[in-house]
Amino acid sequence: MKEVGIGLLGFGTIGTGVVKLLTKNASLIEEKVGASLRLRKIADLDIETDRGVEVPPGILTRNADEVLNDPKISVVIELIGGYKTAKDFILRAIENGKHIVTANKALLAVHGEEIYAAAARKRIEVRYEAAVGGGIPVLSAIKGNMAANNFGTVLGILNGTCNYILTRMTKEGADFAEVLKNAQELGYAEADPTFDIEGIDTAHKIAILVSLCFGTRVVFENIYTEGISSISAIDINFAKEFGFKIKLLAIGKLDGERVEARVHPTMIPLDYPMADVDGVFNAIRLTGDFVDTVMFYGRGAGMDPTASAIVGDVMAIARNLKAGIGRRIAPLGFLDNQLKNLPLKPMDEITSKYYLRFSALDKPGVLGKIAGALGSNNISIESMIQSSRMAGESVPIVIMTHSALEGDIRRALKEIDGFDFIKEKSKLIRIEDALL
Ligand code: HSE
Repeated sequence: MKEVGIGLLGFGTIGTGVVKLLTKNASLIEEKVGASLRLRKIADLDIETDRGVEVPPGILTRNADEVLNDPKISVVIELIGGYKTAKDFILRAIENGKHIVTANKALLAVHGEEIYAAAARKRIEVRYEAAVGGGIPVLSAIKGNMAANNFGTVLGILNGTCNYILTRMTKEGADFAEVLKNAQELGYAEADPTFDIEGIDTAHKIAILVSLCFGTRVVFENIYTEGISSISAIDINFAKEFGFKIKLLAIGKLDGERVEARVHPTMIPLDYPMADVDGVFNAIRLTGDFVDTVMFYGRGAGMDPTASAIVGDVMAIARNLKAGIGRRIAPLGFLDNQLKNLPLKPMDEITSKYYLRFSALDKPGVLGKIAGALGSNNISIESMIQSSRMAGESVPIVIMTHSALEGDIRRALKEIDGFDFIKEKSKLIRIEDALL
């Protein structure tokens, strides 16, 4: 086998990066694989725009069928994103015996099971390293060199847009809306940033990580997902006073026969390595029973890093084709018939430490009533700050708790928010210093 035929669906930013990498490093790739990766067709609705990369003549098409039905194409790279069309194309490619490389975390988190089942029937490889952590090779490590471990936790900063916004809020003391607007002007945040800032993109990624680490199917809709749009400068400043930074953390944890999978703003101690992951960077931290703790750090998005992961996947498939072997590793690392259906632990049953901010009128007995409501709901206070009084206004009272059950915290907050001296809905941010 002298060459492996590649078809590309989607010629946007990441597709352009893939073409650039396949061209620039063609000889290096051939030296490592022992065959050249030949781009035979690129399908996109827009075939006019100059992307600034060299494209072999005659390979651009508006018709995806030319990729899906070309017998000389062995590997299809899906980069169109979204659910329906991408899924249809992938299923058709699998049916036609083509191996799949995709960066589509949303599709895999929601419809992964159907795609993996179709791939299993046809002995097709589905690889998706770029879907989580962009250029960071964490998925291959979980399925490969760390595969002998029982994983206990997997957590990370998985969205560059959120991390960029939180980093700037922390450094500049600025409010969320102001930084988001500026990030959009600079091209760091999408015009419609909902998927990123509301934590949905992060939830897609933790769904994939949890499945890979714990060998279980995850119902995406059941993942608790809270984004960063309600984080304000005041909480970031209080976090600093207590020695914490706020990050959007995705947390996956095996707890007996149940798993935790959740996404929410989280306070982490300033002296923890995860707190130094700033700007658009991503990091993923895993614990395994033999490897102990491993942390990955790198660029979780962007044309070049994402292309690196995609082409790495194509090379892995090409090596197998060259060696005449089928897929050696199932898409989720576990054999298809070994996947479990571990239930997600309800949020009320998780334990965490909590940052609670109350906005209360400064008058006698207020603190006693708040402390009483916490105490009667089994919540123990670790420390607190009350800011100085501003005439006639409410004051922030911040309480850090010891480990507590989330159900107890919610009950206490409901009770406290019913007091007439409370002027705004109380704020809760989880603190993580145990899993890190
Ligand atoms: N939009 C994502 C981020 C990258 O900001 O990290 C793609 O998942």
